[in-house]
Amino acid sequence: MKELATGMYKILGEGAFEYLAKAQAEERKGKNILHFEIGQPDFPTPDHIKQTAYEEIKGNYTGYVSATGILDLKQAIQDEIEQTRGYRPSIEQILVLPGAKPGIFFTMLGLVNPGDEVMYPDPGFPTYGSVTKYLQAVDVPIALREKNQFKLDPTDVENSITPKTKLIILNSPQNPTGSVMTKNRLYQIAELAEKHDIYILADEIYSKMLYEADFHSATVLDEAKERTILLDGFSKSYSMTGWRLGYLVGPETIIEKMGLIMINALSCTTSFVQKAGITALKGDQQPLEKMMAAFKERRDAIVKGLNTIPGFSCLTPQGAFYAFPSIKETGMNSREIADHILYKAGVCCLPGSAFGPNGEGYLRFSYATSVENIQQAMKQIKESFD
Ligand SMILES: Cc1ncc(COP(=O)(O)O)c(C=O)c1O
Repeated sequence: MKELATGMYKILGEGAFEYLAKAQAEERKGKNILHFEIGQPDFPTPDHIKQTAYEEIKGNYTGYVSATGILDLKQAIQDEIEQTRGYRPSIEQILVLPGAKPGIFFTMLGLVNPGDEVMYPDPGFPTYGSVTKYLQAVDVPIALREKNQFKLDPTDVENSITPKTKLIILNSPQNPTGSVMTKNRLYQIAELAEKHDIYILADEIYSKMLYEADFHSATVLDEAKERTILLDGFSKSYSMTGWRLGYLVGPETIIEKMGLIMINALSCTTSFVQKAGITALKGDQQPLEKMMAAFKERRDAIVKGLNTIPGFSCLTPQGAFYAFPSIKETGMNSREIADHILYKAGVCCLPGSAFGPNGEGYLRFSYATSVENIQQAMKQIKESFD
């Protein structure tokens, strides 16, 4: 059999799915497992959003629609960006997509050639490194350090810039650490990108999921017109992971070309899902507020609990719904600990190393579960080390 395309030997999977499979294997043996591995809110999609989808399906709004997104959703996104980022993009700057992930894939497909260098946070969302490898580009992971509260340091970015640097991927609030970038740091990086003629992809999928910190976007400086590309979506804020809806806002010329990728790869994003997206943005925001209040209570419970386990120490994350405790003092590596916790404590979390080499020495807990489950899990973990 002839070889596959070179990139196919380089593309990687995701640790979350590997550990979910391990946990499910335990469940099949009759064990009870408390789940902290998957990054998905445990709240249902709000009723008013579902209602729009039912009505659109009943009204037969089920055919192909514009490849780049329907106009009324793009207008809702214009309003949304104006309210949350302070600038109003043109309709031509917006590309609606089935989820945020294709926004990462399409942006990289559209900008990155083999041999180009791509910078991204480490630990970070695994797709960034995986797609870089798939495209035969060069990974330049930038270490996030606990002593900087896991915020990307502009000096580290500057020191890693070469003439081959093509793209810097930012992510704030961040997966897996829950860190939130300050305006100052983001703007410094955006200025570096301008000085050295580099593109920025700002993955802002957790933009509505903050606790004490304020949200800032690196795309404000050029209003996503020159070199910055904003990525956001509905999966997390509106509990719509399975619906698949996200969007990019970027320079018109790039968005136009990515629209061609859409035509060739997907034709369009599901029609009635886009209508539901309008309801999500324009409708009642109380479900989001209630979810964030619950997440804050859970965050406080998990951070408190993790800090009582010998050898564990956990910073208080400022955004998203992940806790990222250090386990360095235990003397075990992150896979050993994650396996120990799964098999001895019946709790499934992820090894930090699933998010890059700098995630070694940490675990990721997605606290998309009740306070009772969190407290029970912490008790079981503690007891498993006795
Ligand atoms: C940082 C980050 N970007 C993008 C995504 C993908 O979101 P979606 O499910 O909308 O494709 C995730 C999901 O976990 C994420 O954590």
